[in-house]
Amino acid sequence: MSDKIDTVVCGDCLEVLGGIDSFCDLIFADPPFNIGYQYDQYHDKVRPEEYVDWCRRWMSLCCDVLKESGSFYIAIGDDYAAELCVLGKELGLTLRNWVVWHYTFGQQTKAKYARSHTHIFYFVKNAKEFKFYDHAVRVPSERQLIYADKRANPKGKMPDDTWNEYPRLCGTFKERIGFHPCQMPETVLARIIAGSSKKGDMVMDPFSGSGTTLVTAMKMGRHYFGTELSEDYVEGINQRIQSAKDDMHSDRNLFYKFSYTDKFETARLCADMAVTPEEVVKDEKLLYYFTVLMNVRTQREPVFTEEEICSILGVLGK
Ligand SMILES: C[S@@+](CC[C@H](N)C(=O)[O-])C[C@H]1O[C@@H](n2cnc3c(N)ncnc32)[C@H](O)[C@@H]1O
Repeated sequence: MSDKIDTVVCGDCLEVLGGIDSFCDLIFADPPFNIGYQYDQYHDKVRPEEYVDWCRRWMSLCCDVLKESGSFYIAIGDDYAAELCVLGKELGLTLRNWVVWHYTFGQQTKAKYARSHTHIFYFVKNAKEFKFYDHAVRVPSERQLIYADKRANPKGKMPDDTWNEYPRLCGTFKERIGFHPCQMPETVLARIIAGSSKKGDMVMDPFSGSGTTLVTAMKMGRHYFGTELSEDYVEGINQRIQSAKDDMHSDRNLFYKFSYTDKFETARLCADMAVTPEEVVKDEKLLYYFTVLMNVRTQREPVFTEEEICSILGVLGK
């Protein structure tokens, strides 16, 4: 397996993952939803029984390559959410959260209400031995930000299991890569990776698509491994990862006092709080709680001062 660390392999996940010992700390799978999407090399409309049987096979292989303490997240649409939840339990997984990612910019419809959510199952392999890093995903509470309540937990609160903060990536968004029809936002993956892995862990995505999981894992200092059926998508993923590496490298000069991770974590907290860097810098109270939460999340020693946070936010705002 060591020759596959930090790579994406072009091939069918059922073939590539077969016969490998457990090596993953975290798996994120966003399979085709069987709703007729046009992918480069995959026909996304098969008979329902065939689809469920196929899901059973790749989920079972993912369980095999997941470490005992590992976490397994699956994104799925309404049509097969119930089936995949049952399959996970049949495979011995424990469901810890049924997250609903509620996004803005859903696709417009006339005949029924517009769909604006995706289900994300958070399973673990071992209900007692799993790893969860709560400090890394905490957000400021309303008690802190709105009510200035002295009883507020200074470490903020855990996010709800309905995620409203992250819009779907529209064609016009800067983050949009363009070669793939279903690119997920990095912010969704960043929360999952922060909560269920630590630096140096192995993050795996069997349906890599545009490479969101892999590139986000790399930016967060995790190892990654992915499989993807389409050769063209794999080429696009490799370019995306290379371009992120180039950015990280050029940041070293621009950003000498702080690490790329400091910048990434600052942007991640802005996204989680739905605020812009400029709004934080301008608002004394917001800046105070933002700094508190940055220190909770990163557990940095020495802690960030407000001035330091302001200078990182200044770079982000450019
Ligand atoms: C929903 S997309 C994943 C999107 C991804 N989460 C992202 O953010 O870009 C599903 C991907 O799975 C790929 N795929 C379908 N069947 C596959 C298989 N058997 N093995 C590997 N990849 C497969 C498709 O080519 C498609 O790119």
